[in-house]
Amino acid sequence: MPLVTTTEAGVPIQGPSATLIYDDWYPALRTDRLHQGKLATAMLLGIPLVVGRRDDGRVFAMRDSCPHRGIPLSYGWFDGNRVTCRYHGWEFEPCSGRCELIPSLSSHDHLDATKIYASAIPCEERDGHAWVYVPGPGSGKRAPGIELRPVPELVKFGPRYRTAFLTADLPCNVDHGIIGLMDPAHGPFVHQAWWWRSRASIREKTKKFEPIAEGFRMSAHAPSANSAPYKLLGVYGQPVETTIDFVLPNRRTEIIRAGDKWFSSLTTVTPVTASTCRIDVIAAWNVFYWVPFLTPIAKFFGAKFVRQDQETMIQQAEGLRHNPSLMLIDDADKPAKWYFALKQARLDETGKHPMDGQVELHWRS
Ligand code: FES
Ligand SMILES: [Fe+2]
Repeated sequence: MPLVTTTEAGVPIQGPSATLIYDDWYPALRTDRLHQGKLATAMLLGIPLVVGRRDDGRVFAMRDSCPHRGIPLSYGWFDGNRVTCRYHGWEFEPCSGRCELIPSLSSHDHLDATKIYASAIPCEERDGHAWVYVPGPGSGKRAPGIELRPVPELVKFGPRYRTAFLTADLPCNVDHGIIGLMDPAHGPFVHQAWWWRSRASIREKTKKFEPIAEGFRMSAHAPSANSAPYKLLGVYGQPVETTIDFVLPNRRTEIIRAGDKWFSSLTTVTPVTASTCRIDVIAAWNVFYWVPFLTPIAKFFGAKFVRQDQETMIQQAEGLRHNPSLMLIDDADKPAKWYFALKQARLDETGKHPMDGQVELHWRS
């Protein structure tokens, strides 16, 4: 049940577009939107999708387009096993996309319907997201046996935990969404609140970063002592350690551990189109497990936090419409520079990493 769905935020403003990273997993929608015998739609990287769950529980995604005349398959019917196009009734098995029936064929036809495929796209369920492996434009049916990257999953440290989920549409392209996510300097201005931190609490920070595969890690450290939620965690009397990873194409993982208590979150910024994106946050924790109403309280504060980012990016998108030239400064914008370099390395398939070892960054926030 998303809290900050604001389609109104995503629609009217269109800024410059970003280059997109294909052939990777992106969250398409929450699987609680998939109802028996019903089809749902989603948009990823400008590709319209039809998504559903078969009677055997498997989730599927196909390009929302009938291979016959291109009408969206989502206008058709779904009986829990086959998707039927509403135009001429072709029937498709949705996990493979294979056409199983063309009702118009007569005994005089020799066409083998099962040689025809709608474009089925790999789709897996994790942490309540339907993750879709978005193929590059023009890539045909995937050759069998080709290994996909592993499906992203939220890290959990035990069987008992609570979870929360948040989403917000952002009217800017994925690059701005991602660098906004990793930008340390906006906190005291965008996220001013008594329970978080105020502008007056700005002070100098030093953080260590290290390269990891296709990303970077803010090394384990004691979290900012000037933020109230982290102070709260301290009641367990154990040292608190935080690690934040960013990994291509769009994933930020934050883990906080204090003894056997933990909090874990996975935040993704997903291109909806080349010029708009969506932020999704999933979190799990076992801290304060017994505190009643903690989940709604956490959701309330999380939603407020995401809403603050969203409102700022709506304003930013207004400015970006006019294609201004922008700048990235040291050191607060260094993570953004690494992101752009990592992305370029993926697009060029060079495998080059912009960092050659541990780096210390300094900024005030
Ligand atoms: S357009 Fe889908 S069956 Fe003809
Ligand atoms: Fe933020």
